[in-house]
Amino acid sequence: MGDLQIIDEVGHDAADRLNGHLAEVKELIGRSLEAKKFAYCPYSKFRVGAALLTHDGTVFTGCNVENACFCLGICAERTAISKAVSEGYRDFKAIAISSDMCEQFISPCGGCRQFMREFGANWDVYLSKPDGSHVEMRVGDLLPASFGPEDLKVKKSNIMNEF
Ligand code: THU
Repeated sequence: MGDLQIIDEVGHDAADRLNGHLAEVKELIGRSLEAKKFAYCPYSKFRVGAALLTHDGTVFTGCNVENACFCLGICAERTAISKAVSEGYRDFKAIAISSDMCEQFISPCGGCRQFMREFGANWDVYLSKPDGSHVEMRVGDLLPASFGPEDLKVKKSNIMNEF
């Protein structure tokens, strides 16, 4: 009887944590869908929104901002991260990404994966569809065997122009 009660309490705890997590994810995806409305994408007509959650609970949103000089366009994820960093935030918990694709989850480009990786490999990325359904990944899953800021600090050979 006592054992059953413990299992029941553990089960409730786990369910509460899961529900809390799902509510947080849903909220962040909602914010990314809102941000998508501001997308400036007259060339691609491909709207993207992002919502970045910091460890203190602050959310920074972003959208893609294109340019007549095509290569100057910036993705939604990088807009959100740049907004956060420029306001003193570097500790990220999760980022939600949304687009208008209803048959597949939006997946961040290689450049954005590296941009996320700059601030750690162990935080969440929620790839979503317009109906709010999502896939959860970690930055490190999206960019395995990555190069990051720590790599610049490791011991290097002294030999210059060896070859
Ligand atoms: N784009 C993003 O903003 N984020 C992504 O994850 C993928 C692509 C933007 C860049 C460009 O403005 C448009 O989508 C089409 O590539």
